[in-house]
Amino acid sequence: MSPEPPPKTRGILLAGGRGTRLYPMTTVVGKHMQPIYDKPMIYYSLTTLLLAGIREVLVISSPEDLPHLRGLLGDGAKWGVDLSYAVQPEPRGIAEALVIGEPFIGDDRVLLMLGDNIIYGGLDFLRRAVAEPADGATIFVYQVKDPTAYGVVEFDERLRAISLEEKPAEPRSSWAVVGIYLYGPECAQRARTLKPSGRGELEVTDLNRTYLDDGRLSVRRLGRGVAWFDTGTPENLLEASNFVRAIETRQGLIIGSPEEAAYHAGFCSLARFESNVRGMPHSPYRACLERVLREERAELRSRRE
Ligand code: G1P
Repeated sequence: MSPEPPPKTRGILLAGGRGTRLYPMTTVVGKHMQPIYDKPMIYYSLTTLLLAGIREVLVISSPEDLPHLRGLLGDGAKWGVDLSYAVQPEPRGIAEALVIGEPFIGDDRVLLMLGDNIIYGGLDFLRRAVAEPADGATIFVYQVKDPTAYGVVEFDERLRAISLEEKPAEPRSSWAVVGIYLYGPECAQRARTLKPSGRGELEVTDLNRTYLDDGRLSVRRLGRGVAWFDTGTPENLLEASNFVRAIETRQGLIIGSPEEAAYHAGFCSLARFESNVRGMPHSPYRACLERVLREERAELRSRRE
């Protein structure tokens, strides 16, 4: 008998919040449309979901930012992807995205990603997690020097979580919880039962703690070769921009292009990818993708010969 295929996984991209820490830049242009080097912030997280093999994505954002995000990303059809949109009327927390997304999630699993997180350097850990038939919740953790700005998890040698705290003044470990979470379809109902925290939000850490209490929380470590950024402050924005610039300039390749990711994920043909690139104005972004296209064509030719 062949093994059961993994359940289908949908994506939710939460581009919420008011971006107050980026004031005055966010007065007119929302946080998730701010540039990280040569492209809008939201491109990176969307690209990560596509590269994880997720084809249906719900983008959730504030009433002010949502129309702009929709204008920027569209319905995804030209990338062979299905993008839909929902409003989060007030910034009431990450876990609220699951409540808003409940009809979208249905009976499937969901990979929830925060629009201000950037993950670079091998996404096999994510593809593996998505391919596993596990239920419950999976969190991804990354070692940082100062974990006080994040969810922090303490775990034993078998990666079993022992404690989980949100922005602790005295962290029990140096493992920060990355802004990408994998849940079973029951997550929305669980999120509904949460009480708002002191800052008036449904905290994702509280949700994850319910899974921890039930023994249904899995922890996956990101290796040290992976780069993770949370780009909520001007320092982080610049740091991430410099990182992307260094890699792109060195390789002549591009990080965070949904057009390229959709092609590599097998969601659109080379011809479609090519026509998407041809439709772009002349820019360094387009030039980078043209190079990718040339190499892809050469590779296909050499495989045929
Ligand atoms: C949120 C989560 C936190 C997580 C972080 C990752 O924090 O509450 O647990 O570690 O995202 O980026 P926020 O940046 O929204 O304060």
